[in-house]
Amino acid sequence: MARRKRIVQELEIIDIVEKGRGLGRRPDGKVVFVDNVVPGDIVDVRIRRSRKDYAEGFPVAWHKYSDLRVTPRCQHFKHCGGCQWQNVGYEDQLRFKENIVRSAMKRIGKAEIETFLPILGAQEIYNYRNKLEYSYSNKKWLPPELLNTDVSNVENVLGYHVKGSYDKILDIKECHLQVDPSNSIRLGLKQIAIDQNLDFYDARAEQGFLRQVMIRMTTLEEIMILVSFFYDDQNKISSYLNEIKKRFPEIASIYFCINAKKNDYMFDREMIQYDGKGSITEQLGNIRFSIGPKSFFQTNTRQGQQLFDLVVEFADLNGSENVYDLYTGIGSIALYIARSCANVVAIEEIKAAIEDAINNAKANAIENVEFYTGDVKDMLTPEFRKRHGKPDVLITDPPRAGMHPKVVNILLELESPKIVYVSCNPATQARDLGLLSEKYQIKKMRPVDMFPHTHHVENVALLSLKE
Ligand SMILES: C[S@@+](CC[C@H](N)C(=O)[O-])C[C@H]1O[C@@H](n2cnc3c(N)ncnc32)[C@H](O)[C@@H]1O
Repeated sequence: MARRKRIVQELEIIDIVEKGRGLGRRPDGKVVFVDNVVPGDIVDVRIRRSRKDYAEGFPVAWHKYSDLRVTPRCQHFKHCGGCQWQNVGYEDQLRFKENIVRSAMKRIGKAEIETFLPILGAQEIYNYRNKLEYSYSNKKWLPPELLNTDVSNVENVLGYHVKGSYDKILDIKECHLQVDPSNSIRLGLKQIAIDQNLDFYDARAEQGFLRQVMIRMTTLEEIMILVSFFYDDQNKISSYLNEIKKRFPEIASIYFCINAKKNDYMFDREMIQYDGKGSITEQLGNIRFSIGPKSFFQTNTRQGQQLFDLVVEFADLNGSENVYDLYTGIGSIALYIARSCANVVAIEEIKAAIEDAINNAKANAIENVEFYTGDVKDMLTPEFRKRHGKPDVLITDPPRAGMHPKVVNILLELESPKIVYVSCNPATQARDLGLLSEKYQIKKMRPVDMFPHTHHVENVALLSLKE
């Protein structure tokens, strides 16, 4: 039996919560989460899903637009979905993010926070990404109002996937997420491909030569591109990449890979260095990082430095400490703090990331960090802890899912006097802090905005072992 789709009429949006969803309350008090709205909007909402305590839906008609709305800078704002909050001022975005963290801590963590410091906003709210990925497609995404009209979607484009569309790509004319010449390079890549009559990928038919491109740019102004092709044709690859090289001599490193899989993910492919350097260099504080096509690196370099400075401030190192850095990635935090403490023990499960970390330690002449590859929950065995000693400071920066319950229990056993917990997901961090509150007091907390115009928020907490 088909479910009845209900409409909630004239719902006032009163707050923004996790994942950037608007929140309203029906007259009977039931909470309704709504996509793509701003506090102050009054909208009719079509309910997509209804549960006992809450409902979820999307707006179908507007009765009032919020006074918080501003004109987005980007011409693609309406359809792109990449910078969902460009339609509210930056100060309001920061307020929303701070509230998201506060409310997760209150609802989920239920632990007392001694000092909650104001969110650390970004200096640069545009052009802050050092890495972008675009897809080639022979089908252009069309807005709903142009569907079933004479406008054709058959066109070679290079841009972003629109949410919910795997086979059509929004053609990007200008993106405000990366400094120039990023836009010129993307437009040039598209034009050269058209001039050379190359096939753009057709995701539905699973054919076409050109699939994706990643553009990486460091704050030291080095540029790397990685082009993914669906099949290997050396003549076509060479003439395409040679023309790119000729047109954009500022690109320091050109890579390609062949991705014949169904899915777009290209970072499990062999990366072939076509021209220029094997890696480009990024600088965070006094540390230089060598970045290859597969390396993970904080996407917003300048805010990455603010985040790491906050970790250093919270850790308050005096040079004598034994520090553990869990979920270290390419060792960014471990290397950043290494000169301020006695030694660091760093753990990460991805082997390639640890290889990068070791190379970066060598390149920076840092000798007091020991890197280990493995799952944190399996690595922190009693023998490991005995060998490395009790940490004076433990830094943890887990993925969105937060820490495994086994890791939380190990931390409770370890009894490090200080824990600095960095998180990209306030909900799982609040859950873990609630569990750690058995032995720890939250001394300080400060959110950091790494991704302006999105709902994402990073949060750093300093915990101290209870007396
Ligand atoms: C949020 S990133 C932190 C990266 C690093 N601290 C930085 O700032 O660049 C989380 C890292 O944890 C790693 N990771 C995820 N689950 C893990 C696990 N169970 N054990 C060890 N590392 C894990 C991921 O590969 C990723 O590099």
